[in-house]
Amino acid sequence: MKGKLCILMRFFFLHASFFTLVLGSNVSYDGRSLIIDGQRKLLISASIHYPRSVPAMWPGLVKAAKEGGVDVIETYVFWNGHELSPGNYYFGGRFNLVKFAKIVQQAGMYLILRIGPFVAAEWNYGGVPVWLHYIPGTVFRTYNEPFMVENEYGYYESSYGEGGKKYAQWAAKMAVAQNTGVPWIMCQQWDAPDPVIDTCNSFYCDQFKPTSPNRPKIWTENWPGWFKTFGGRDPHRPAEDVAYAVARFFQKGGSVHNYYMYHGGTNFGRTAGGPFITTSYDYDAPIDEYGLPRLPKWGHLKELHKAIKLCESVLLNGKSVNISLGPSVEADVYTDSSGACAAFIANVDDKNDKTVEFRNASYHLPAWSVSILPDCKNVVFNTAKVTSHVNVVAMVPEKLRQLGKHVKWDVFKENAGIWGQADFVKNGFVDHINTTKDTTDYLWQTTSILVDENEEFLKKGSKPVLLIESKGHALHAFVNLEYQGTGTGNGTHSPFNFTNPVSLRAGKNEIALLSLAVGLPTAGPFYEFVGAGVTSVKIKGLNNGTIDLSSHAWSYKIGVQGEHLQIYQEDGLNNVKWTSSSKPPKRQPLTWYKAIVDAPPGDEPVGLDMLHMGKGLAWLNGEEIGRYWPRISEFKKEDCVQECDYRGKFDPDKCDTGCGEPTQKWYHVPRSWFKPSGNILVFFEEKGGDPTKIRFVRREVSGACALVAEDYPSVRFHSQGDDKVENNKNTPLAHVMCPGDTIISAIKFASFGNPSGTCGSYLKGDCHDPNSNTVVEKACLNKKECAIDLTEENFKTNLCPGLSRKLAVEAICR
Ligand SMILES: *[C@@H]1O[C@H](CO)[C@@H](O)[C@H](O)[C@H]1NC(C)=O
Ligand SMILES: *[C@@H]1O[C@H](CO)[C@@H](O)[C@H](O)[C@H]1NC(C)=O
Ligand SMILES: *[C@@H]1O[C@H](CO)[C@@H](O)[C@H](O)[C@H]1NC(C)=O
Ligand SMILES: *[C@@H]1O[C@H](CO)[C@@H](O)[C@H](O)[C@H]1NC(C)=O
Ligand SMILES: *[C@@H]1O[C@H](CO)[C@@H](O)[C@H](O)[C@H]1NC(C)=O
Ligand SMILES: *[C@@H]1O[C@H](CO)[C@@H](O)[C@H](O)[C@H]1NC(C)=O
Ligand SMILES: *[C@@H]1O[C@H](CO)[C@@H](O)[C@H](O)[C@H]1NC(C)=O
Repeated sequence: MKGKLCILMRFFFLHASFFTLVLGSNVSYDGRSLIIDGQRKLLISASIHYPRSVPAMWPGLVKAAKEGGVDVIETYVFWNGHELSPGNYYFGGRFNLVKFAKIVQQAGMYLILRIGPFVAAEWNYGGVPVWLHYIPGTVFRTYNEPFMVENEYGYYESSYGEGGKKYAQWAAKMAVAQNTGVPWIMCQQWDAPDPVIDTCNSFYCDQFKPTSPNRPKIWTENWPGWFKTFGGRDPHRPAEDVAYAVARFFQKGGSVHNYYMYHGGTNFGRTAGGPFITTSYDYDAPIDEYGLPRLPKWGHLKELHKAIKLCESVLLNGKSVNISLGPSVEADVYTDSSGACAAFIANVDDKNDKTVEFRNASYHLPAWSVSILPDCKNVVFNTAKVTSHVNVVAMVPEKLRQLGKHVKWDVFKENAGIWGQADFVKNGFVDHINTTKDTTDYLWQTTSILVDENEEFLKKGSKPVLLIESKGHALHAFVNLEYQGTGTGNGTHSPFNFTNPVSLRAGKNEIALLSLAVGLPTAGPFYEFVGAGVTSVKIKGLNNGTIDLSSHAWSYKIGVQGEHLQIYQEDGLNNVKWTSSSKPPKRQPLTWYKAIVDAPPGDEPVGLDMLHMGKGLAWLNGEEIGRYWPRISEFKKEDCVQECDYRGKFDPDKCDTGCGEPTQKWYHVPRSWFKPSGNILVFFEEKGGDPTKIRFVRREVSGACALVAEDYPSVRFHSQGDDKVENNKNTPLAHVMCPGDTIISAIKFASFGNPSGTCGSYLKGDCHDPNSNTVVEKACLNKKECAIDLTEENFKTNLCPGLSRKLAVEAICR
């Protein structure tokens, strides 16, 4: 239950000012919906956080959201990216909020700004500047003068007693007093005072009711996936379940819905929260980390949005009744005075399909699905019937021209211990975060011990054992400049014990510990007081038994030298003496590597394959790629799934993959950071790896698939162009589409019958129409996209009687 609690506790809250870019618009609300310039609106919103991509990607991301049927872009504002030190503001590069907002405006979309300043968001320190904690008297998230900002506070308010309640009321009043001309919302805030709207954050919000009937039902965070931690698993949420949750929400009177995230993106540099949030913030979102539509999720939701929009007017202006159509089957029927009628029919049974009668017609509903009938007659969409095309996506390693054998490497080795002068010497330990104040991940601490030459272990040739206790997040241990090992907490628990045999010699021995932070906490009551770092160091196996070094004199140094000298930036490159080599050292800890590389050809998104490295930080042309750590997931095979059943309530651990595999192998390097040649790639390796195995990989779409069954909704939209373009034959269409400038160059697989498998690995079944390939080739070859009718002319009529037949196609795109 503890795990569950944690999941609930990470959600975020408050202060979204709505639609600040609808200049001159009058935005108000009532119990049914937002009202913009007198018109009720049903809004589909998408979270895209500007600093989690780069400005060159923003127009494409916003366009892909718009094409996906989205009306509104939602983002947090990340205070600690904008005020680097008190009064020192930054709104450039990835933090150019104004530019981002203008791109949204130019696309003709609305913007929801969740101004925070506290945001959580798996973002370092929840978006609050670390320096704020060190202004005397500051306590975050309560009625405290130096603080006073909030988000998703309802979960925590009671932890702060009276101060919490007073604070929430103050925050709401302060926001409303700004007179922005748009409504304010507070997420997960059950005591939000009027006129602030309380909203829902969850995997399902159909049962949510705002605390006042005068407030519209708004879903601020629908999680289409989940985030990932170094050492954790890869969470996935099936498209069928996301669509089901959204359809249920609108069925039950919702009017604004936001995907958190629609594009998750990347935690560049040290912006990831923690401990242990990965650099990738993909989130299994409808647009993947690299900016490509994730299919079929993106396509399935796009069709869902169209289906819902067909019902918009009657949903918002009509009256509704709900009707039970049998056990677990419920219809909500909306009608208005013009005679319009729209219905949502839900089968909430998580195991059994149902066939029901509705208005004298019969409808088949798969388990855990919603059918949408914009005219109360024809099903245009069922959440469990995924008709979207799918892409074959692969990370294609780039030829070694860029990196590898022929690259010249420059190498700089850090000292395994204090470099230059120690910052201070102290008996005992300090808190890691209080000491670095997050200016760096690294804190050196060193001491020495004398080993008597009469020690038994020296004679026996055995090794004493180093025992370290730490509050987190990780450490590397060195003795006499030699790397001994790494200790770290796991994805759910940051305190850890490090127990490792060490090589000691007679005489003086230097013990050097490199304590590491891997992202600061992002939420939870009093999270700013959660500490990190070493709390005990002992050595076991000496003549005297176990000796405790905890109260020894320890020398401390904040950061590592290369970082201090900024040798990853063009200006700082010459601040150290690099050693040139065509054969860079392997498995050498504390080493900086620099290589000059060409941009990978083409225009596909680029990743850096760091599978063979240990742990560290990487930069390209001074831009911060971020932390890399291909840490192996500590989960056993049985903690992951082979196949995911979309039916039934989702939780983040329901459909995990990646058990026992490296958590993050690829690190996104935005295209816009590259010059055609002469790019400077720099990385700092903490514990040792093999830099010759580093590769660029291109995220390439090489094929397209479709899988459609005869009983899928027969009134279908065309993929392009406006809504309501219907297939007049009333038969399902299998739709295949190649990305970008590519066309369908070959049909790799086509079978009408009962094929099985998924895109990339379809198999023929015992029922197969031999004409399949010919029919599909005729319709598709040398086209960018094609749609194949599952009609009688195209395929054998009498094939496998009694079977619901389907068509599976895999095409190659060139
Ligand atoms: C804005 O719209 C609301 C409701 O439609 C209306 O009551 C109000 O007078 C309008 N305000 C302005 C400034 O036009
Ligand atoms: C209809 O809605 C009401 C109010 O939400 C609920 O109590 C009732 O159970 C619903 N009826 C059916 C048939 O689902
Ligand atoms: C259903 O059929 C009955 C009997 O034929 C008829 O009276 C009724 O109007 C029909 N209902 C609808 C919605 O078509
Ligand atoms: C993480 O560590 C904690 C404490 O040592 C332990 O209880 C938990 O089971 C570990 N989790 C995993 C996934 O190994
Ligand atoms: C580390 O070891 C100490 C002493 O044996 C023990 O009390 C503590 O629970 C251990 N911590 C972890 C995270 O395993
Ligand atoms: C960090 O320092 C502050 C004082 O600045 C203190 O209140 C806090 O307890 C320290 N945190 C830890 C974890 O030691
Ligand atoms: C071992 O114990 C003896 C006697 O108490 C003491 O003199 C000596 O300093 C100890 N050695 C170490 C390494 O702590």
